[in-house]
Amino acid sequence: MALGLNQRKLMGLKLPRMTIVYGCISSGKTWVCNHKAIKHIVDNYEGKGLIFFIGRTLKTLERNVLEPLALQYKGDFDYSLNQKKATIAGIKIELEGCNDEMAETKIRGSTAEFIYGDELTLWNRAFLVRCMGSLRTSNAVFLGTTNPDGPMNFVKTDYIDRGEELGLLNLKFTMSDNPSLTKEYIDQVSKEYTGVFHDRFIKGLWVAAEGLVYPGFDEDKHVVMDYNMPESYEKYWAGVDYGMVNPMAMGLWGLKDGIYYCIREYYHSGKDGALTDEDYYNALEVLVGKMPISSVVVDPSAKSFINLIRKKGRFIVKGAKNDVLPGISECGMALNQGIIKINESCVNFIKEFGMYAWDMNSALDKPIKEADHMMDQFRYVVYTLGWVRGKSRLIGM
Ligand SMILES: Nc1ncnc2c1ncn2[C@@H]1O[C@H](COP(=O)(O)OP(=O)(O)OP(=O)(O)O)[C@@H](O)[C@H]1O
Ligand SMILES: [Mg+2]
Repeated sequence: MALGLNQRKLMGLKLPRMTIVYGCISSGKTWVCNHKAIKHIVDNYEGKGLIFFIGRTLKTLERNVLEPLALQYKGDFDYSLNQKKATIAGIKIELEGCNDEMAETKIRGSTAEFIYGDELTLWNRAFLVRCMGSLRTSNAVFLGTTNPDGPMNFVKTDYIDRGEELGLLNLKFTMSDNPSLTKEYIDQVSKEYTGVFHDRFIKGLWVAAEGLVYPGFDEDKHVVMDYNMPESYEKYWAGVDYGMVNPMAMGLWGLKDGIYYCIREYYHSGKDGALTDEDYYNALEVLVGKMPISSVVVDPSAKSFINLIRKKGRFIVKGAKNDVLPGISECGMALNQGIIKINESCVNFIKEFGMYAWDMNSALDKPIKEADHMMDQFRYVVYTLGWVRGKSRLIGM
């Protein structure tokens, strides 16, 4: 089989006590580490401690590690998620998902001879510390893979940055390390990711989410004069970010020739006087007019408003999928792909693009919760209705 440069390097070396392989998406990290893990076990296992394969959840471990291994080592590698066990050439492997409380108890009480970890930045810090602490045999080895996150992520600060002190090997992979990728694929995915997601998932950098959330928003490209809007659309939806004290923000969306247009907006700030759910429902009716709406996608926490829309019986209502980062990543892609256009009349929507920024005071990636109302209804429709071609790798984070 053909190997990329770093893949060959990893396959050829004797694993030190700790190795972390990080880098951009599709760079062949998991593929080569799966092989290396099996080779390491078969060549080195002495039976002094347990072997663990650990993912964020058992399901993600299955998708990334167990299924590919079962295909590649047919007959020699078997696994059962129910029993949380796998075997390679008769050697037993324990399977765990790190967000399972029982897993932490189990690791704490164990002596491990080899641990293979998938998607490390999505683990919690205490769990990774426990894993390292369980490497009690003289020949114990940890091998883990991850995409980069922010520079303050514990995998970076506690391990990668202290590589020399800990005797930890870290290897950075780029797409050139994966010989199976075509130039067309690399060009395509490189274009799809924008902002901080581009830096992390394409360049493989540990960078903070800072500045504007949608730096790719460009009035010349995304805003359409009223007289240039289509006269009719193939399909319609509405997006709703509900607010009583905070503003209530709604967008009417239409699809025409593969482009999603925000046709008009409704925006009401609580500061301008309190309105009731009935008032908001009437505003939704006015916003929509006579358009045949496929669904209204609403902030999932707005239970009372969702129930009211349902009770009125005119619209199909959906609670929005509210995973913020995957949603933002897909909205960035949608803007980049040129499939989003906004009518000039949506002044609040357009204004928020210039204000919606990452919260630099937060250790986790999250936008500042201000000027995020039209932004949220935008994310709800794009992500819940799956408008983006080629899904973001962030799905299910
Ligand atoms: N040397 C190789 N030969 C053949 N196929 C490979 C090779 N290396 C990687 N691949 C294939 O390339 C694809 C991407 O590789 P892989 O899943 O290992 O990337 P990754 O770096 O783990 O990406 P992510 O960050 O998205 O998890 C997979 O389908 C994998 O089977
Ligand atoms: Mg991977």
